[in-house]
Amino acid sequence: MENNIKKILVTGGCGFIGSNFIINQIKNNHILNFDKLTYAANKSNLSKYADNPNYTFVNGDISDYDKLIDVIYNFKPDSIVNFAAESHVDRSISGPKDFINTNIIGVYQLLEASLKYYDSLKSHMKENFRLLHISTDEVYGSLGKEGYFKETSQHNPSSPYSASKASSDCLVNAWNRTFGLPILITHCSNNYGPFQFPEKLIPLIIINCLNNKKIPIYGDGKNIRDWIYVEDHCIALNDVLQKGVIGETYNIGADSEMTNNDIVNTICEILNEKSPPKHISSYKDLIVFVKDRPGHDFRYAIDSSKIRNEIQWEPKYAFEEAIEGTIEWYLTNKCWWEDILNKKNSQGRIGES
Ligand code: NAD
Ligand code: DAU
Repeated sequence: MENNIKKILVTGGCGFIGSNFIINQIKNNHILNFDKLTYAANKSNLSKYADNPNYTFVNGDISDYDKLIDVIYNFKPDSIVNFAAESHVDRSISGPKDFINTNIIGVYQLLEASLKYYDSLKSHMKENFRLLHISTDEVYGSLGKEGYFKETSQHNPSSPYSASKASSDCLVNAWNRTFGLPILITHCSNNYGPFQFPEKLIPLIIINCLNNKKIPIYGDGKNIRDWIYVEDHCIALNDVLQKGVIGETYNIGADSEMTNNDIVNTICEILNEKSPPKHISSYKDLIVFVKDRPGHDFRYAIDSSKIRNEIQWEPKYAFEEAIEGTIEWYLTNKCWWEDILNKKNSQGRIGES
């Protein structure tokens, strides 16, 4: 059994999806979590593994080549999975610099360090080594009412965030085609679930309801996102790592398109039942329509037939079931998000009303 344990270097593992991925992987693998601990990170997500011999945490920045080399050569990973990123569109509009530094320069340094390590490997380790880069469906830009994002769709990003992620895709592909680094890229749709930072739409709605604060909907609320439960995404990433073809890109989605108005109304209705409001008749009374996000993409929708047909992955969770579980998680883990709201460097952006 011991021999089957793989060493996976995860970057950005203290964030939302990275934490869920590590929880999913640590049963069978040795994980080194390399994270800069930005505002979006939460080390406590993984505190129950602090003494687990299969878990190592290193505080580091993927832009720091020397530190990466040191950590990679000491740990000797079988694979590297890159979640490290600045990930919030609104922050990329108010301050793009960190997005360029991490999502472009950081990915370049990670590629350079990974390539140096890969070139030094003996043939049996070389054969199995993979760098899995977690990208996003936002690189494809905006859809109209019709159509789906395919792996062959053109990159056409709208925000500084998606432009930086599109740039990272180009770099990752170039390091494969030019230098032979064995890479895989995934483009997933909007995730929801435990540990999501409360600046993103779904946790923001839940927490604002519970704190009796306004729920801001951008524009007319008719923008469409394609939602996937984070555990389904993490299983897809595991499957791509195991069975993906080197140099290929895989779109991940769960066929769950909803308007922002639908999302907000659904969450308000579930919360009206589970935790009835005290001063108003329905949480829907908290909804306010506010100024639209500049460059707001109208619709995202993923065609995930490639991963379904070639890798035999499919999502397990329907939105109706997993959103209930997600809401339950935020109700029973109030301390988790209250700690975040209380942190000084987050004040003024989260839970605004
Ligand atoms: P997140 O913002 O919750 O977490 C990002 C993590 O990366 C944090 O722990 C942060 O400390 C770390 N980090 C940031 N800069 C770093 C650096 N320079 N060096 C090392 N660590 C650094 O993000 P998330 O929502 O978990 O997203 C993870 C990845 O998945 C991102 O690449 C994002 O683009 C992609 N993605 C997210 C979604 C989604 O819906 N959240 C969907 C598709 C793809
Ligand atoms: O599609 C994948 C992407 O999904 C990831 O790459 C990003 O990292 C992740 O943040 C997410 O991007 P979005 O911009 O789609 O997610 P966000 O939660 O910020 O917004 C979802 C939708 O809700 C979007 O149409 C904007 C709208 N919105 C958002 C917030 C925060 C509101 O109407 N009000 C809000 O307060």
